Amino acid sequence: MAKDTLSIIDNRTGKEYEIPIEEGGVIRAARLRNIKTSPDDFGLMSYDPAFVNTASCRSKVTFIDGDTGILRYRGYPIEELAEKSNYLEVAYLVVKGELPDSKHYAAWEQNIKTHTMVHENVKTFMEGFRYDAHPMGMLVGTIGALSTFYPGAAQIEDLETRRLETRRLIGKLPTLAAWAYRHSRGLPYVYPDNDLSYAGNFLSMLFKMTEQTYQPNLVLERALDILFILHADHEQNCSANAMRSVGSSHVDPYSAVAAATAALYGPLHGGANEAVIRMLMDVGSVKNVPDFIKKVKAGERLMMGFGHRIYKSYDPRAKIIKRLAYEVFEETGKNPLIDISLELERIALEDDYFVTRKLYPNVDFYTGVTYQAMGFPMTMFPVLFAIARTSGWLAQWAEMVRDPEQKIARPRQVYVGEQLRHWTAIEKRPEPLMREDAVSDSI
Ligand code: CMC
Repeated sequence: MAKDTLSIIDNRTGKEYEIPIEEGGVIRAARLRNIKTSPDDFGLMSYDPAFVNTASCRSKVTFIDGDTGILRYRGYPIEELAEKSNYLEVAYLVVKGELPDSKHYAAWEQNIKTHTMVHENVKTFMEGFRYDAHPMGMLVGTIGALSTFYPGAAQIEDLETRRLETRRLIGKLPTLAAWAYRHSRGLPYVYPDNDLSYAGNFLSMLFKMTEQTYQPNLVLERALDILFILHADHEQNCSANAMRSVGSSHVDPYSAVAAATAALYGPLHGGANEAVIRMLMDVGSVKNVPDFIKKVKAGERLMMGFGHRIYKSYDPRAKIIKRLAYEVFEETGKNPLIDISLELERIALEDDYFVTRKLYPNVDFYTGVTYQAMGFPMTMFPVLFAIARTSGWLAQWAEMVRDPEQKIARPRQVYVGEQLRHWTAIEKRPEPLMREDAVSDSI
């Protein structure tokens, strides 16, 4: 009779251990600690740099099947949400677990809009940044600073506090993001207009000039809303892991969202959309694509916007964005960089290097060309990602706070450094050159 267990024989001792297999294919790493050579032995532990095969939580928020390219929020396929829903409704779904009925949607929208304003001191704080400050750096700083305005946010065990801070963060992120942009342009900050939609108000705070009321272009407003939907959550990615890990110290959610935003800033994560445009500009024209591909295969360059830890097939978000790009171009004119993207994709999808490694376009491959056509400067691309991902971070955070199995995140290490040695007087120490490895290891 088949059993849902794993039998392990420790060849050092000849002992056999039986470990339950849970959830159809999961073993608890802590069980390995029972595998010992003697009672005072620490026991076995698993070594998994970058968590490539370690689940750090049980989650109900997002489902991904990377082999077949499936992405669902709370069970709903991303394609249906992108076509039929709007970002605020999806944020509700992600955060609360169900789609709202019309009464709850109206209350949620009202609640988010109530929180679009920020304290005037935040404006002064933002004015202190250099004229050329990257808006993502400004966002990290200002989100973190918000914790000083809302000290009550530290009561993370309290449900009503979590709800309030969730509404505040989703409401305020576009304001901070837009003001970071206006700062870089030397333009006065625009206050929220709550008569507009979530995306429409954001566009107003970015692009409003002297007009009394800003009327967003409906195609671009909808396109931005869809892009927000596609970026709302993506299970245990680098920034969600940062949110959970930093949040596990029970710090307030502003500090944890600031940490998640910092994680998103990097070029291997949310900064990839900016890096894609830089790469496309660097390639320069379609005729240079084969040369560029050669460099990628030689390991000299990375093909930004390609590859994914989880997707080993076409990222379903990239499919939607590729189509969306053309809808945007109908309104704005074609972004000439799209031709280079298409050629890169065409060659890569036929090339053995990419095929054998299962490298396909990810979400960032077509977002950059779309955002650029919409008038966003490159530095704003990861900022747009951060606005949308805030709902996902908060959903992951709330799940972590409520989960009785979670504790402060604290991985183990395999110590490979020096064994015990004793301090020697400076004139008796060996030349650093003789210890080159030791010195170069440390930075
Ligand atoms: N260009 C060229 N080669 C690549 C690329 C790429 N973009 N991505 C992976 N590879 C190669 C890699 O060199 C390795 O080759 P080998 O087996 O010969 O050593 C193999 O493919 C497996 O890659 P990996 O580095 O083990 O994969 P990973 O899961 O650690 O990294 C990744 C995933 C997304 C960091 C990586 O694919 C990458 O750097 N992509 C470019 C940056 C990018 O587009 N990031 C956005 C990710 S999606 C949105 C988000 O999460 O923010």
